[in-house]
Amino acid sequence: MTDIVEKLYMTGDLSDNELKALIETDDEAAAKLLRERADEVRRKSYGKKVFLRGLIEVSSYCKNDCLYCGIRRSNKDADRYRLSREQIMSCAESGYELGFRTFVMQGGEDSAFTDDFMCGVISELREKYPDCAITLSLGERSFESYKRMKDAGADRYLLRHEAADGELYKKLHPAEMSLENRKNCLFQLRELGYQVGAGFMVGAPYQTTDSLIADLRFLQELKPQMIGIGPFVPHHCTPFADENGGTLGLTLRLLGILRLMFPKVLLPATTALGTIAPNGRELGLQTGCNVVMPNLSPVNVRKKYDLYDNKICTGEEAAECRMCLQRRIEAAGYEVAVERGDCVI
Ligand code: 5AD
Ligand code: FES
Repeated sequence: MTDIVEKLYMTGDLSDNELKALIETDDEAAAKLLRERADEVRRKSYGKKVFLRGLIEVSSYCKNDCLYCGIRRSNKDADRYRLSREQIMSCAESGYELGFRTFVMQGGEDSAFTDDFMCGVISELREKYPDCAITLSLGERSFESYKRMKDAGADRYLLRHEAADGELYKKLHPAEMSLENRKNCLFQLRELGYQVGAGFMVGAPYQTTDSLIADLRFLQELKPQMIGIGPFVPHHCTPFADENGGTLGLTLRLLGILRLMFPKVLLPATTALGTIAPNGRELGLQTGCNVVMPNLSPVNVRKKYDLYDNKICTGEEAAECRMCLQRRIEAAGYEVAVERGDCVI
């Protein structure tokens, strides 16, 4: 198995059969080598730097009904909120003081967040923080909407493709959503000049090794600057409440594979990874990750952005998370970079 890791390290790619073997292996020597090679490759491009993204969860209203997600529209128990422009600006202000140079506005697909509203917020952020990157993660919108927000000053867009295997996509989403539309959005964002992020959940219900290989092949086609993956974590008010979650081992294997396939990509150690294991994010950093996205949302809404059960960092003030992360990043052998942290591609 270690020879497959070395081949991936040397060539940046593998055949489907080799990928299948590596994704499914429980060989400890392979896991260790994958971690070492992934770390070597991330250090070649990014040194010890870890970029921080200040995550502002702008709305928990969502018109979609994805079966895995706690803020799906059918979850009548969800306690919903949306932030005002003033609240978003105040999150950004405290974030800037804490050293964040990227703000990520993420939310459900909330029709109250019109293009006019979003462009107003984006222009104000752009003017007040010319040295910061503005990232959006607001789901599927029209080409025109993506264009207006880009023109207003947005730099990056995160839209996980969720599942590149069409059959799996259908099992995870309601009939009115389509993989084709999701992919179109991603290609449109790229065409508009956004730095684009795609990604998927690891260990989602019905996911097979072949579906994970389809995800990797789709990413090779899209060539995104950012790739977000994390374990699936069940939420008790969804149809997947009783399903198993994704495991730490499989998530780390995929992170290592992604780092070797995409040497320069921006790869976050996600909150979901930190949720399934106390040192999950640290292990992610040691397996090729170079980004963390701590929460800047007001503490009184944190628990309401409830995508999955037991989400970490929902009680801490932004400053506490910032300091906690600094300690964790340094203890794992890396350092916090106070900069925009653009992709070096
Ligand atoms: N477990 C893990 N990740 C989830 N997401 C949504 N629901 C869950 C869940 N139950 C992820 C999706 C989405 C991102 C914002 O959060 O991949 O794109
Ligand atoms: Fe949020 Fe540790 S990162 S409390």
